[in-house]
Amino acid sequence: MAEIYPSLIAGDLMNLRKEIQTLDPEADGYHIDVMDYSFVPNLTWGPEQINQIADSTEKPLYVHLMVDDPTNWIEKFSLPSHSTLGIHIESKGEIRKNLLRIKDKHLQASVVVNPETNIDLIFPYLDIIDSVLLMSVQPGFSGQPFLPSVIEKLDPLLGYRQTDSLKFKIGMDGGINKKNIMDLKKRQVDWFAVGSAIFDAPNRLKALRELKKLAS
Ligand code: DX5
Ligand code: ZN
Repeated sequence: MAEIYPSLIAGDLMNLRKEIQTLDPEADGYHIDVMDYSFVPNLTWGPEQINQIADSTEKPLYVHLMVDDPTNWIEKFSLPSHSTLGIHIESKGEIRKNLLRIKDKHLQASVVVNPETNIDLIFPYLDIIDSVLLMSVQPGFSGQPFLPSVIEKLDPLLGYRQTDSLKFKIGMDGGINKKNIMDLKKRQVDWFAVGSAIFDAPNRLKALRELKKLAS
């Protein structure tokens, strides 16, 4: 079964504790977007707020760092075990060093790839990462339509994983909904970040259950 991480940026930001309590029975974890108003034209939470969110659930978090240079940010988080820090391949700073620093902190290390970025750029890091996150929208905002061109990135990644017996998981973030999740699961996407398809639904828990069923 593919895992689903509700993306909290699409939730009721004044009531995140309630959102988490509602979804906790079905959520595999929570996806949390960090933005710096430079790497993307939007701003969300800083490490202190995220550490508080981490205290309100036992579930792992995927912290998606959409910042120019994640180097100093990595030190600031205190997250539950099995949580992940994801850095963009397009970010500044030394990618390998930052990934190894994440692992030193006993967190899972992930590389995120923007829609227009060539997937070959991440191949040198596949041996040390726990997951790849493929952006299926331009990063920065929830509620955008899925970009089908992301699908072309799956075959090279799956091929590399099989040939080199690597264990990294493949995730997708952006525009995931009831219409496309089943096909993407069949194409071997292991986990999904889902925002508006859960939080715009009248019954969020029911929407998450339906998505999980389609991705099973
Ligand atoms: C976009 C974010 C996503 C976003 C997903 O920059 O990385 O996590 O919240 O929202 P939907 O599922 O609505 O595209
Ligand atoms: Zn995200």
